[in-house]
Amino acid sequence: MKILVVGGGGREHAIIWKIAQSPKVEKIYCAPGNGGIAELAECVNVAATDIDGMVALAKEKAVDLVMVAPDDPLAMGMVDALEKEGIRAFGPRANAAIIEGSKAFSKELMKKYNIPTAKYEVFDDSAKAIAYIKEQGKFPAVIKADGLALGKGVIIAQDLAEAEQAVHEMIDEGKFGKSGSRVVIEEFLTGPEVSVLAFTDGKTVKPMVSAQDHKRAYDNDKGLNTGGMGTFSPSRLYDKAKQKECMENIFLPTIKAMTAEGRPFKGVLYFGLMMTADGVKVIEYNCRFGDPETQVVLPRLKTDLVDIMQAVIDEKLDEIEIEWEDNAAVCVVMASGGYPVSYKKGYEITGLDSVDGVTVFHAGTAVKDGKIVTSGGRVLGVTALGANIDEARDKAYAAVNKISFKDEFHRSDIGIKKY
Ligand code: AMP
Ligand code: GLY
Repeated sequence: MKILVVGGGGREHAIIWKIAQSPKVEKIYCAPGNGGIAELAECVNVAATDIDGMVALAKEKAVDLVMVAPDDPLAMGMVDALEKEGIRAFGPRANAAIIEGSKAFSKELMKKYNIPTAKYEVFDDSAKAIAYIKEQGKFPAVIKADGLALGKGVIIAQDLAEAEQAVHEMIDEGKFGKSGSRVVIEEFLTGPEVSVLAFTDGKTVKPMVSAQDHKRAYDNDKGLNTGGMGTFSPSRLYDKAKQKECMENIFLPTIKAMTAEGRPFKGVLYFGLMMTADGVKVIEYNCRFGDPETQVVLPRLKTDLVDIMQAVIDEKLDEIEIEWEDNAAVCVVMASGGYPVSYKKGYEITGLDSVDGVTVFHAGTAVKDGKIVTSGGRVLGVTALGANIDEARDKAYAAVNKISFKDEFHRSDIGIKKY
């Protein structure tokens, strides 16, 4: 088989690393890819959001399957466009990707089908939104841009002034463009967060092993929110009882709801869950593999990922058994100084050849004059497996300490959570 993977971050590197292990795969293309991916796949310079360009590339290379990994092209209908041309594609169509693309949509869905989530209201008028926040009179208040906002569209406002500012910036000042012209105001929930990614063909849902990520930039959850500074799998909190609760109250009802709405979801559905005192609740849905969750989940997958993707596309997920290793994984992200705000690119990365027993997934790298250089905020995700989290963490940090580039920083507490 020839497979084309769309995207170019750490998640895509992990997906390609896994696909490359399949005996069925003869050639992998990636668009646009990155410096690390280039070792496993032929990278082609087509932007992940270039739908026409991607369809043309898939035809030109006569690929058997296209795996669309990032949210933007999914929300824009890349899978629909590929299918229209008779090309097999893995990922939800636009009418299902909306579960991530519009928070107003996903909240209405949960309300209609009784899926546990934070209480909320949707507004496109700032005066009404602020009146509602005042009426609730509870802080922190959570204000979310309706659409995709690169993970920056959620404001936890500590008081009325902060809430008013967030609402004005989103609705009146267009801080997130169209994405923020509608906002969701929701109740602030507390509790640890767990990510569960699941394969689904619209009928059957098969959850993957759980993961937790560390979103803040610095140790002890200090600093700004980032795309994720590291992950571990499994979560200690996601025990058998929680798995059953989530399957019955969240996973199956969500799949059934989407199909009932005429929006069958095929692909990977990511459940962002919060373990509240009042049961597990959905914080968000993503229509794709998580980043950097994928970097700790896929290394634990025993089954051939290509077989699973085929089963999803053919709506035969019930016929395949998915097996996982009984081990643990930790991924430590090495980032460029200044991330997530501003940072420099183009620094040489050294030590990549001196590590063993780990897998280094490249997130923001490029090849320049035969050398691997930094080209993004999150640069590398160093993943180690072990019998347990502690063992995996020790191995991951031993490798991190051998790799360096100018202004590099990473958290030193990945895998250590108080719960
Ligand atoms: P989201 O993009 O919806 O996942 O939100 C990003 C992050 O904001 C989540 O991972 C939570 O840490 C936090 N968050 C979102 N909604 C709530 C809520 N209702 N209560 C508390 N924290 C929240
Ligand atoms: N790690 C969170 C996400 O992929 O959205």
